[in-house]
Amino acid sequence: MNNAAIGVFDSGIGGLTCVKELIRLLPHEDIVYLGDTARVPYGTKSRETIISYAKQDIDFLMQHNVKMILVACGTVSSVLSNVDKSDSVEISGVVMPAVHAACAATKNNRIGIIATSATVKSGVYGKVIRSINPDIKVVGKACPLFVPLVENGYTAVDCPPARFFAEEYLEIMKKEKVDTLILGCTHYPHLTELISDIMGSDVTLISSGAELAKYALKTMSYNDTLSDREEQGKIELYCTDSVELFSENVEKFLGKNINAQISQCNLKF
Ligand code: DGL
Repeated sequence: MNNAAIGVFDSGIGGLTCVKELIRLLPHEDIVYLGDTARVPYGTKSRETIISYAKQDIDFLMQHNVKMILVACGTVSSVLSNVDKSDSVEISGVVMPAVHAACAATKNNRIGIIATSATVKSGVYGKVIRSINPDIKVVGKACPLFVPLVENGYTAVDCPPARFFAEEYLEIMKKEKVDTLILGCTHYPHLTELISDIMGSDVTLISSGAELAKYALKTMSYNDTLSDREEQGKIELYCTDSVELFSENVEKFLGKNINAQISQCNLKF
């Protein structure tokens, strides 16, 4: 048993897809979330820059004495190949949980992965999927405009700019007849309705953030580090830019009734 909080971070609001699933699965856990909204997007930055941002994000969460760190950012998870271990606290990214869910879901052995440019360029999803099943064909596509669309609230299924870019980006996935599509950037599940409308209901969408939350539950159960708290856990959300837009997004994505404390923090830039 361990009553310390679970730490979660992302470049912005994408990691809230992981937090939403954590709250559903583990309502008694305390959660500390960091969204680096001042520096989003990470996915168009160099490897060195992404690593240095990620180290600062991890340091921030460590200062909150968290028991586990969930890297709810596809870009950081893909770039930090050694993200899975740390001396003092377990650090887990989205790649493995998403890959396992996708490999279990595909029936025609054709998996698509949409993510940021950095994640697609890293080739990590293809490598990991093929190491599990070399017969699976993996089709990758970077969707760089999805993150700014989501951060600015353009997510509705009938939103013309979002639909325009989604149709363009997803054309290859339809052509390649993937039956399973990994949303490898944690921002993308905010566009689930639109993506599903374009791909069709027979294509399984895998939310990498939600899969990471399920993985956290399994790991903590196995390690006996779940909280024994009986009341609702505390949710502390931090962003690095103004709380105004962040709070609007929190309310939109986690719901009005969420009892979260939202604050701005300064990482040492
Ligand atoms: N949610 C991040 C990811 O999963 C957003 C990407 C970005 O900051 O560019 O990659």
